[in-house]
Amino acid sequence: MSEPRTLAPPERRVALVSGVERLGAYDLITALDPSGPADPRPGQFYMLAAVDAWGGGDDERPYLPRAFSYARARAEPDGLALGFLLESIGPGTARLSALEPDEELAVVGPLGIGFRPPDPGTRPLLVGGGIGVAPLLCWKEERGDAAALLGFRSAAHAQAAALFAGEPRVVTDDGSVGKQALVTELLAEELDADPRATVYACGPPPMLEAVRALCTDCEVRAQLAMESGMACGFGACFGCVVPTRDGYARLCVDGPVLDAELLETAL
Ligand SMILES: Cc1cc2nc3c(=O)[nH]c(=O)nc-3n(C[C@H](O)[C@H](O)[C@H](O)COP(=O)(O)OP(=O)(O)OC[C@H]3O[C@@H](n4cnc5c(N)ncnc54)[C@H](O)[C@@H]3O)c2cc1C
Ligand code: FES
Repeated sequence: MSEPRTLAPPERRVALVSGVERLGAYDLITALDPSGPADPRPGQFYMLAAVDAWGGGDDERPYLPRAFSYARARAEPDGLALGFLLESIGPGTARLSALEPDEELAVVGPLGIGFRPPDPGTRPLLVGGGIGVAPLLCWKEERGDAAALLGFRSAAHAQAAALFAGEPRVVTDDGSVGKQALVTELLAEELDADPRATVYACGPPPMLEAVRALCTDCEVRAQLAMESGMACGFGACFGCVVPTRDGYARLCVDGPVLDAELLETAL
């Protein structure tokens, strides 16, 4: 919470879907944002909604937009090509996963505070669980020196690891790719070998809590990209608050990346 809050205006723009790629259990949707900020920071997010067929009933409303970390951003002549990695778990993600090229996507963002640079003298260590690998992808693209430790449920989910350059270490719950292990076991091995690291983690709450506890024990700084239900995405509704040692934080403007030491627990 030491960083200035994002100044992105909460305006809604229309981006045109330019690519849809199925990656095992996930979908990678690319959309061209013609007039938004050209420099989102890894760990920031966008509120997304399909322009057509977003919601139920005759007028297809009132579904709220949903929050998504951007996974990739590439400057193109006509705007910024934003990539979002989605797991279809409900009506919003199902609709977004069904988008086709040239359909319209409503975007608000970039929002929130992303990852900060590693502490001096430490190496960046990325720890991702499941769909939580999404914000780590653009961070890895920016920080080529970062090692990536990735954990997935199964081989279908582990296909997302192919998006990462270098050689990410991959484990799965069922042992279908890499060792049958939790990604925090890889983190423990890495910190055991060399604790001079800044850890960047995103994944389900139990994984984040395990990362937080391990890093606390090893006296290693960690930045956790967290999630909570977000209705507005820019500080207005207080729907996304989480308790911290400094009081409640609104994850959409004070996060979603929080320093682990601010938290009693990431659960
Ligand atoms: C900052 C941020 C970044 C995100 N980035 C991504 C991303 O890159 N890719 C991606 O696929 N998803 C991402 N999410 C999660 C995504 O926004 C939610 O899962 C979204 O609610 C899905 O919408 P839906 O309509 O498909 O499902 P919903 O109907 O909204 O949810 C389906 C089920 O999941 C539960 N649920 C929804 N959101 C959460 C949550 N945040 N924590 C715990 N349980 C929840 C609901 O209670 C419900 O049971 C992100 C969330 C946040 C806050
Ligand atoms: S989502 Fe509305 S205040 Fe954070």
